[in-house]
Amino acid sequence: MIRFPRTIGHRGARGYAPENTLAGIRTAAEQGVCWVEVDVKLTRDGVPILMHDDTVDRTTDGRGTVASMDFADLRRLDAGKPFGPEFAGEKIPTLEETLALVFELGLGINLEIKPCPGREEETAYKALDTARALWPADRPPPLISSFELPSLEVALAHAPEWPRGYLIDRRPADWAAIADRLEATTLNVNARREDERSIAAYLATGRPVLVYTVNDPAQARRLIDLGVSAVFTDYPRDVLAVLGD
Ligand code: G3P
Ligand code: MG
Repeated sequence: MIRFPRTIGHRGARGYAPENTLAGIRTAAEQGVCWVEVDVKLTRDGVPILMHDDTVDRTTDGRGTVASMDFADLRRLDAGKPFGPEFAGEKIPTLEETLALVFELGLGINLEIKPCPGREEETAYKALDTARALWPADRPPPLISSFELPSLEVALAHAPEWPRGYLIDRRPADWAAIADRLEATTLNVNARREDERSIAAYLATGRPVLVYTVNDPAQARRLIDLGVSAVFTDYPRDVLAVLGD
């Protein structure tokens, strides 16, 4: 069974550096985390890159949907300036560049498959192919997670040996059956929607429970005390100070 650190940098270290960028991952590592989470989607021409939203509007100086832009178009955008002038010039990274950096830094990684609508299966295939081609045999595997069940089904069929995180926002009535069917390794749940009872129900399945997004160190402490394995946080330094690793 994979061992998770208690503190996972969310989209890198989103509170301190531009999300889903190499600078953000470096910042998370500098703050002392052992794992980061990033969001993976495809450009129009099928390159796996890091991006949370379906459009580039919020996190770059450009406008438009990722699904309508080729990698060359996206690469011209500035993914640092909207966060702060000190990050100007930061580019949208490819998954390949991201993995090279996490290997160099010795980090673990949660790859969240975050497809543009209609590309759920294709995004999972391409992300998994890219990661498997680069993954060193002697490294612990990544955690592959998604809200999208078709993406997780591809992960189960295509990379069954890699752990899968079933991401839940509003939990469906049949969440436990879905987790069984997907052979989910972990349950990755929303801090804002859960309480002690629902966390206990998740834990009763015997799976590690990971909770997003927890920016209050005291809340992180309470969740760990309930038996949660890890929290995703935008503020790794602050949460690490309370939880340790
Ligand atoms: O994977 C945990 C968390 O990142 C899920 O939500 O919207 O921040 O990708 P979101
Ligand atoms: Mg995410």
